[in-house]
Amino acid sequence: MNSPLGLIILGFGGHARAVADVAMALGVKHFRFIDSNARQNETFGVFPVVPRWEEDLPDGWSVMPASGDCLNRSSQCEWILNRGWPLATLVSPTATVGFGASIGPGTLIGHHAHVGPMASVGVGCIINTGAIVEHECDIGDFTHVSINAGVAGRCHVGRFCFIGAGSTVIDGLCLHDGVTLGAGACAHRNLDTPGVYIGVPAKKMTGKALD
Ligand SMILES: CC(C)(COP(=O)(O)OP(=O)(O)OC[C@H]1O[C@@H](n2cnc3c(N)ncnc32)[C@H](O)[C@@H]1OP(=O)(O)O)[C@@H](O)C(=O)NCCC(=O)NCCS
Repeated sequence: MNSPLGLIILGFGGHARAVADVAMALGVKHFRFIDSNARQNETFGVFPVVPRWEEDLPDGWSVMPASGDCLNRSSQCEWILNRGWPLATLVSPTATVGFGASIGPGTLIGHHAHVGPMASVGVGCIINTGAIVEHECDIGDFTHVSINAGVAGRCHVGRFCFIGAGSTVIDGLCLHDGVTLGAGACAHRNLDTPGVYIGVPAKKMTGKALD
């Protein structure tokens, strides 16, 4: 996987900065952040943060969706592809990607993350710092596996899922599209309906109460 010469990063939230950090570690030298809330002359180090981008994409550059929110990231991917611009795929040099694993465009594999052999990670995903997606897992498009979360082998995690920091999905489970697993939770059975699940073992939240 060749690193782009330069990178446009959509958004300037926390995740956008983590994306830049991975790209810098890969040797990318030029950055622009686009964020509609950019302040005048705002920068990240020496790199400009601008509210919009009217120019063509410079040769050799690509574009990365960098919202931490799954739905926003999917809209960002659509915006990029509608312009005919290439989506970046960024894998930190400290991450490990196993034999036969596949990683979709617009996806970030963060520092010290691990994607096991024959795993498949979809489009516009985040496998964040220190997260583990083990062998033969299937991670749906626009899903975020947060920092230090672990998805054990042969799990199927749907699209638009959010697997919270430090949470665990035990091996072989299926998580429906749109499942949020709270920080520190442990999914020990299939989660068959979209919604927010917390605790050990994970239980569905209804409003502020547990189901
Ligand atoms: C589960 C989660 C989505 C719920 O968010 P929310 O709907 O805004 O919930 P609130 O913060 O209003 O909390 C509601 C109740 O659930 C409890 N709660 C919230 N998150 C919890 C969690 N992960 N585990 C256990 N209990 C939790 C709160 O203590 C609160 O309880 P109370 O009503 O008795 O005071 C969120 O807390 C969470 O865990 N997000 C993951 C964040 C994360 O991992 N970020 C990493 C980015 S890399």
